[in-house]
Amino acid sequence: MDWISAPSGPLRGELAVPGDKSVSHRAVMLAALADGASRIRGFLEGEDTRATAAVFARMGVRVEAPSPGERIVHGVGLHGLAAPERPLDCGNSGTGMRLLAGLLAGQAFDAELVGDASLSRRPMGRVIEPLTAMGASIETEPGGLPPLRIRGGRRLHGIAYAPPVASAQVKSAVLLAGLYAGGETAVRELRPTRDYTERMLGAFGWPVACGPGWARLAGGGGRLRATDVEVPADFSSAAFFIVAATLVPGSELRLRRVGLHPRRTGLLAALRRMGADIREDDPREEGGEPVADLIVRHAPLTGIDLPEALVADMIDEFPALFVAAAAARGSTTIRGADELRVKESDRIAVMAHGLRTLGVRVEERPDGAAIEGGAIGPGEVDSAGDHRCAMAFAVAGLLARGPVRVGNCSNVATSFPGFIDLANGCGFALRTMVDN
Ligand code: S3P
Repeated sequence: MDWISAPSGPLRGELAVPGDKSVSHRAVMLAALADGASRIRGFLEGEDTRATAAVFARMGVRVEAPSPGERIVHGVGLHGLAAPERPLDCGNSGTGMRLLAGLLAGQAFDAELVGDASLSRRPMGRVIEPLTAMGASIETEPGGLPPLRIRGGRRLHGIAYAPPVASAQVKSAVLLAGLYAGGETAVRELRPTRDYTERMLGAFGWPVACGPGWARLAGGGGRLRATDVEVPADFSSAAFFIVAATLVPGSELRLRRVGLHPRRTGLLAALRRMGADIREDDPREEGGEPVADLIVRHAPLTGIDLPEALVADMIDEFPALFVAAAAARGSTTIRGADELRVKESDRIAVMAHGLRTLGVRVEERPDGAAIEGGAIGPGEVDSAGDHRCAMAFAVAGLLARGPVRVGNCSNVATSFPGFIDLANGCGFALRTMVDN
């Protein structure tokens, strides 16, 4: 499916983006392994998180959906999952596959995890290596690629692990395997990453000692107690509206109840350095998460040298930042972001190529890019099936001198169902292309 995004006038109004993807995945996983029923509110109705819920349904967990964005998960206990009869499909989701690998490594049964074409190209060695060190047995395709064939009935033992990449997914996979491992499991990170797994384990009654960049738990006995989870709005989905309202003259948007986990909000810091006008209104805590309404007003941006220390805290926001940089005055340089090459697409290559097609000067580097702000032209770009690149190019279209056609947009439904309607509701001129 292709989109056409056309230049538009000011963006105005108030909107709530869907629930957080990271929190939704973890809520279903821990609720499924808990004793008793947990209610999840604000659950992301995206393809990724629905795939994770479906994986647990395949293993005998009853998951009710009484209304959109709501799930009641009838947990079966830590050892209550049933052996799946067929491979478990994680769809497009790296989070789903990597966290499930940890959680399934300690089960009594065999399981196979598969994914779509993009996920089947993503590196799984980063979780297989520590899980194998814990005693797991996982076979992959050559190069550590999916499918993952996980052998059950292994006796796991805790490890102290320092992942070579800053990755919440790797940390989480190790900690989830640690629930089933004898002794203590500890992770120490290169840079602190989002700690939803640690804190949600605590909320489900499993003691976890943690601080910025480290976490430790004792496994091999214990239970998770059902609890209700409130999922905040996903900062990474809000990011496209934050950048759009900043860039389009005359705009003012209020984004409601946005999750502002400090390890997720690096984009706010980056945009503020560039001159953005973003105010946090009514900051509060909901379900243990910091949330606030964000009020974003148009402001002219100036390019920056992005501090490397911000990279991990905005790892999902680079497609949006590329567009902000393209519309800023002067140049923006990004370094230390080589992880972008192994996301849902090679995001450095996809964004650099697309923006160049629109007439923006972008120099691609192995671990980042140098982007020279200037006029954005009309044209045709390919999102390479990457949801976040598709939405970022839609934002570029608002500012272009003519319509931008964005190819391959159907995966936007993995993280942001309803994006087009919400976008049009506040002033985007965005539509799907119907081929005759
Ligand atoms: C996620 C962690 C990040 C992020 C992904 C979601 C998570 O990946 O890019 O979208 O929910 O743990 P890495 O931890 O591999 O950087």
